[in-house]
Amino acid sequence: MGELSGLRVAVAGLGPMGRGIARVFAEAGAQVSVVDVDAAATARGYETLLAEADPPVTVSTAASVTEAVRDADLFVEAVVERFDAKLALLAEVRAAGNETLVVASNTSSLSIGELGVAFGDPARVVGLHFFNPPTKMRLVEIIRGARTDPEVVERARAWVAGLGKTAVLCADSPNFIVNRVCRPLYYESQLLVTQGMTPEVVDAAVKGALGHRMGPLELLDFTGLHTHLGSSETALREFGDPRYRPIPLTRQLVRAGTTGRAAGRGYYDYAAGKPRQAQAAVTRSPESAADGQVHVYRAVDCTPADVAAVRELAADRRVVVDSSAGGWVEHLPPGVGWLRLHRHGEQTFAEVVADEVAGIAPAFDAADALGATSVPVLALPGLVVDRLAHTMVNEALTLVEEGTAAAADVDLALRLGMNHPVGPLEYLRDTGPVEVLAGLRALLTGFGDPRYRPAQLLVRQAAGSRRG
Ligand SMILES: NC(=O)c1ccc[n+]([C@@H]2O[C@H](COP(=O)([O-])OP(=O)(O)OC[C@H]3O[C@@H](n4cnc5c(N)ncnc54)[C@H](O)[C@@H]3O)[C@@H](O)[C@H]2O)c1
Repeated sequence: MGELSGLRVAVAGLGPMGRGIARVFAEAGAQVSVVDVDAAATARGYETLLAEADPPVTVSTAASVTEAVRDADLFVEAVVERFDAKLALLAEVRAAGNETLVVASNTSSLSIGELGVAFGDPARVVGLHFFNPPTKMRLVEIIRGARTDPEVVERARAWVAGLGKTAVLCADSPNFIVNRVCRPLYYESQLLVTQGMTPEVVDAAVKGALGHRMGPLELLDFTGLHTHLGSSETALREFGDPRYRPIPLTRQLVRAGTTGRAAGRGYYDYAAGKPRQAQAAVTRSPESAADGQVHVYRAVDCTPADVAAVRELAADRRVVVDSSAGGWVEHLPPGVGWLRLHRHGEQTFAEVVADEVAGIAPAFDAADALGATSVPVLALPGLVVDRLAHTMVNEALTLVEEGTAAAADVDLALRLGMNHPVGPLEYLRDTGPVEVLAGLRALLTGFGDPRYRPAQLLVRQAAGSRRG
């Protein structure tokens, strides 16, 4: 007996999402009826659903949406992502006259409030944003429109729990939680490519230092650059904030038809077989030249006092600066190495600055002596990892500050939706607001771009932690 036995669910749209959603409800014991745009499409989708279903599930087909929703408790729409298509469908559902039906949309980008108004009864409309594939991904973002009845939200929560999944609650805000917090990850990784870094190095640094399963550029290729461009444009339009503007390189790649893995080419070339693994960018020098006597000078910033201290230390020993502060590009004393160490579990990972243009020789020997695996990076403000991590934390805080989601839900969403080992706000707690704020301010100074404007909540937290 499943958790949801007795629940009657109608699912419209038998693309990958609708098929997966129908399966998870059926597996939980609900009585599921499915429908696509016409009888032939419904039959095709139903066949595919049954063929994919392991374990097998029982679902039935309906001749029309009207028939599907007549006796249902819950309607989930997973039709094509177009407002006009969803609008026409919702009109049909309303006309069916089931006045107690809860209407859920799996939309990734449309406003739940707007869909609610279009349906004619916004109190009953809620977002149930499943992740792909719904059968495997545990996370569901529940989107509450401004006029969604709180009782409907509570029922949605109970159903998600009945599916054995984890719900996070999100206000009706563009990109919801996961896609919003990951925006800087995508923007910054692409900007790094435009500033001279290779996709292999960027992805290797993120995987090695932050423990992400896929690098951001691999992920962009997987999702499709056109999809990313679309959600960037939505974010820019809806928030009216220049920090969300798309990267020119994304547009160029989309215009050239090189939109990622499905197209055969994006940031990586898939035509010639598997792309070179990002991990290939990771280096270890064959011989360790350092004898283990490396003095590591950790510096969040690059103040005149830091520079003087490094000069003094370097007078009689091998010194490396452990910092991502961009100021070192101009003030690194001669003979001193520059790296940034990250501890991830038992591992130490190093970004080693190797920049011929800036005249900085890589201190791979020092990284080796410290037992670190390393990638060579250019002398750019924030290097790779801190730049991505700090901008992601900033986005997460902005989302919390504006009331879109609670901090605990943001962390849960990123851990379950993206497999990040720690959520952005847990990362903030570990690193401390003072250091994250210093990192963002250095990026703002280095690039002069509003992308790096710190959230006021971060400024206040940093002040509080200095006082407290
Ligand atoms: N693909 C993803 O990774 C993903 C993840 C989360 C959410 N979503 C969202 O889920 C929804 C569906 O995504 P997908 O990738 O499965 O879409 P898809 O475009 O592959 O499939 C949509 C299906 O809906 C059918 N359809 C269109 N109009 C219909 C109507 N009026 N009545 C019944 N069926 C109709 C189409 O025939 C098609 O089978 C979209 O809103 C999308 O944004 C997608």
